[in-house]
Amino acid sequence: MIKKIPLPYSFDALEPYYSKETLVLHYDKLYQGYVDNTNKTEEKLNLARQNHDFENIKCLEKNLSFFGSGAILHQLFFENLAPKNDSKPDENLMQRIRQDFGSYETFQKQFNEAAKAVEASRMVPFSICS
Ligand SMILES: [Fe+2]
Repeated sequence: MIKKIPLPYSFDALEPYYSKETLVLHYDKLYQGYVDNTNKTEEKLNLARQNHDFENIKCLEKNLSFFGSGAILHQLFFENLAPKNDSKPDENLMQRIRQDFGSYETFQKQFNEAAKAVEASRMVPFSICS
């Protein structure tokens, strides 16, 4: 069983880059749905195993992977965002950034441009298991 992590900042803490409404949608609705469905699917999978319902196990495992990864990816997302601050990476990471990008500013520029170019992927829908 998995549990929702608490949001590490207020819903409006990421504005103006990420709106309060969008964060509420992703945290309260989408993330909650992934967590609930992960737990429901895990229960169904345990029951299918107890009942030797082997035909259904493949479908349930696929759904567990879908819902579980959705929950984990949302958790990573929430934990890796933070309100705007002026902190910089520690010296080890900064050295690597300079090695790979030439400078921190160049890294930031490339990161920002890459982020703007990201397209949403089309999710593979979950399956209806018996
Ligand atoms: Fe989301």
